Amino acid sequence: MNVGILGTGNLAVTLGRAWAAAGHSPVVTGRNPLHASEAAARMGDAARAADPGDFAGTAEVVVVAVSWEGLEAAVSLVGGPQGSLAGKTVIDCTNAVDYATGRLKPASGSAAELVARSAPGASVVKALHLFAGASWPYAGPAETAPVVAICGDTQRALDLAAALIGDLGARAAAVGGLAGARQLEEAAGFVMRVVAAGHNPRLAVPDVDPALPGVAGTTAG
Ligand SMILES: NC(=O)c1ccc[n+]([C@@H]2O[C@H](COP(=O)([O-])OP(=O)(O)OC[C@H]3O[C@@H](n4cnc5c(N)ncnc54)[C@H](OP(=O)(O)O)[C@@H]3O)[C@@H](O)[C@H]2O)c1
Repeated sequence: MNVGILGTGNLAVTLGRAWAAAGHSPVVTGRNPLHASEAAARMGDAARAADPGDFAGTAEVVVVAVSWEGLEAAVSLVGGPQGSLAGKTVIDCTNAVDYATGRLKPASGSAAELVARSAPGASVVKALHLFAGASWPYAGPAETAPVVAICGDTQRALDLAAALIGDLGARAAAVGGLAGARQLEEAAGFVMRVVAAGHNPRLAVPDVDPALPGVAGTTAG
């Protein structure tokens, strides 16, 4: 599949490289054409850089991997407000979090909802913001594969995102509609606060067996 990657930085490269290794053809673009060609070269032979104006037409699915500060500009760069992404699945990986404090930067709503507003007609899925890019691809035992929580309003888009997450060696957990994206983005802030306090966030959430009866009620408090 032609996986369009909007962004040319660390996450873009690690995801593109992992998907290329899984048989996909990454197409990468960004505001700086030199950064886009360098990113494509680092992803491997199956990847190529695209002009922002050609990007949406080439990509079968779009993965947004840019800084929060550049998010709206990046979606505009590829014609999102003009409808270039209408009908496409758009996976938003943005971490709109102040790394020092763990505070979420959007005053209200979420980065993913900003992407949806900036790209009318696109089916936006929030995913892949919580784990470091260096986590991918995961190649360990299946029973300890990372679980990537995702949310979105369109089943087809959730299925596509889940398939791409599977190609990274992880498992997707769909946890609701895009209105829940802020909660997923807050989870990144929570992780950063636990790390800043000197602890492993893996140990800061309960180990809960979802098969146990009534377990959802007990964890919800
Ligand atoms: N790195 C990770 O492990 C990781 C994991 C999960 C989520 N994330 C999230 O993924 C996103 C990208 O992270 P990263 O680590 O790849 O960052 P990065 O290496 O700093 O790359 C940032 C990207 O955003 C672009 N950008 C910045 N400002 C822009 C603007 N005003 N207009 C257009 N593009 C702009 C940069 O373009 P230029 O090259 O032109 O500056 C670059 O392509 C962030 O939201 C981050 O929180 C990262």
